[in-house]
Amino acid sequence: MLQSVDWLWLLHPVLAVAVVYPLLGMVLRLALQTRDRRINKTKLPPTVGRDHADLGSWLAAAVVAIVLLALAVVILTAHPLAAFPGGLPRLGLVLLVLLGSVLALVLLWRAKSPPYRASFALLCWAGVITLGLQGEVYRLGDNPFQGAFWQSHFWGGAGLTGLMLFSVAGRPEITKQLRWRRLHASANALAAVVFLAQAISGTRDLLEIPISWQKPAIQACDYQRNICPVAPPAAPNP
Ligand code: HEM
Ligand code: HEM
Repeated sequence: MLQSVDWLWLLHPVLAVAVVYPLLGMVLRLALQTRDRRINKTKLPPTVGRDHADLGSWLAAAVVAIVLLALAVVILTAHPLAAFPGGLPRLGLVLLVLLGSVLALVLLWRAKSPPYRASFALLCWAGVITLGLQGEVYRLGDNPFQGAFWQSHFWGGAGLTGLMLFSVAGRPEITKQLRWRRLHASANALAAVVFLAQAISGTRDLLEIPISWQKPAIQACDYQRNICPVAPPAAPNP
């Protein structure tokens, strides 16, 4: 049976599957149409570029939202709140960074002038990374020269969040200048690959993370030798 804390852990994958990936499909289709219309002068409605950027902004917001949600759930459910490591001051700081990141995203949507757009995108990204670096968040590896880093669901998510935020921040420049548009298209071709990698590492993590009442049994396993202690045979019925 799932307990309430397990449902909290499910929120992030559920929103990724039900909201983020369907949106990504639309954004990708409109991106190809935008490019096709410009390069090959294909007869497509002139709205494809604007629709791509509008849905792109929603995609970016959805990615930031599910990432913040996952991080909040991971950090706040690791220990009973009364025994939060670092006590009330650290709990307060974590909540402040969470709120600050949401605020930076809202302000990024509204900001017009380039320095503000760049600053709010950076602030929001810094918030995501700060939360991700907390001890409670499991990261496969932190060294980019090792394979584990590239299989890490956290680092993939951090990179993707950055790419999405900077697409939103540069929206006016991408619309108007060819140089920016080229940079955007190549950076986000990479983003499309990372979205695929997140789908793989996310479902892998879902297989590996046990539901809460099974955690003590799974943690007794030997992760180096891939074996688990064999449970003693159940007592026979009298
Ligand atoms: C995986 C995600 C994305 C991919 C693969 C992608 C790709 C592309 C491509 C291929 C183009 C056409 C470039 C050309 O004409 O040569 C484009 C245009 C554009 N993209 Fe994206 N993009 C993505 C996400 C976003 C996001 C999140 C935003 C944020 C607002 C955004 C904003 C724009 C804008 C403003 C344009 C110019 C549209 C116009 O012509 O009016 N994109 N994108
Ligand atoms: C847009 C795609 C995605 C992004 C940017 C993303 C990002 C993240 C981040 C930053 C974390 C917190 C760090 C961690 O605990 O590893 C996380 C946690 C997690 N992600 Fe994803 N993720 C995405 C898609 C998915 C998908 C498709 C699944 C599975 C179906 C998934 C499953 C999980 C699980 C099980 C966790 C552990 C925490 C929790 O469940 O709340 N993710 N993700």
